[in-house]
Amino acid sequence: MRMSTKRIVVLISGRGSNMEALLKARLPATVAAVISNNPDAQGLAVAADHGVPVATVDHRGYAARGDFDLALAAEIEKHAPHVVALAGFMRVLTPGFIGRFEGRLLNIHPSLLPAFPGLHTHRRALEAGVRIHGCTVHYVTPVLDSGPILLQAAVPVSVSDTEATLAARVLAEEHRIYPEAMRWVCEGRARVMAGGRVHIEGARDAAGALLAPALDG
Ligand code: GRF
Repeated sequence: MRMSTKRIVVLISGRGSNMEALLKARLPATVAAVISNNPDAQGLAVAADHGVPVATVDHRGYAARGDFDLALAAEIEKHAPHVVALAGFMRVLTPGFIGRFEGRLLNIHPSLLPAFPGLHTHRRALEAGVRIHGCTVHYVTPVLDSGPILLQAAVPVSVSDTEATLAARVLAEEHRIYPEAMRWVCEGRARVMAGGRVHIEGARDAAGALLAPALDG
């Protein structure tokens, strides 16, 4: 049966609020471990409070990015995850690492991709004068913040917004859409079509309707 429990490993670097949203979401999945590259990540204590095994692979212990990624991959593989979720994980991963997990590696990004890949998305959105900002859950591919999109949420920008107020409203939407997209993936309902669009089987919302098979051909 497709609802069997999947194992998720979540990678964090800091606060871990998206990780906590995944933990609280009652997914048909177990968060098998939370792993950080930063031993001081606040989210590690949050995960431990939820009874989730935590581990640190400190990137500062590795001279080369590839060596860090190999150690990180080894730590992840201990948990044989079906899905690896980047949740505020602030290291750029090598193509070798991404290839190893491609198709089961997800990320939450604080902009409406393909707008504003990379860092400081809220500041850049304000500087660009966009009226609509938001967040994106996507599969990770070797090109930064550009993999197939699972789900997005739009956040209107107000004239009085600062980077902080805008970030807070986007974050609230991140906490809503990451668990929702993760549910689709854990239920086996997400399929990347030729060309990179994602079809969500049985989705009833606007995103799912746009991605219905008739429109994919
Ligand atoms: C989130 O805005 C996420 O989209 C971005 O970094 C932030 C991490 O926040 N990549 P948290 O650690 O999940 O609280």
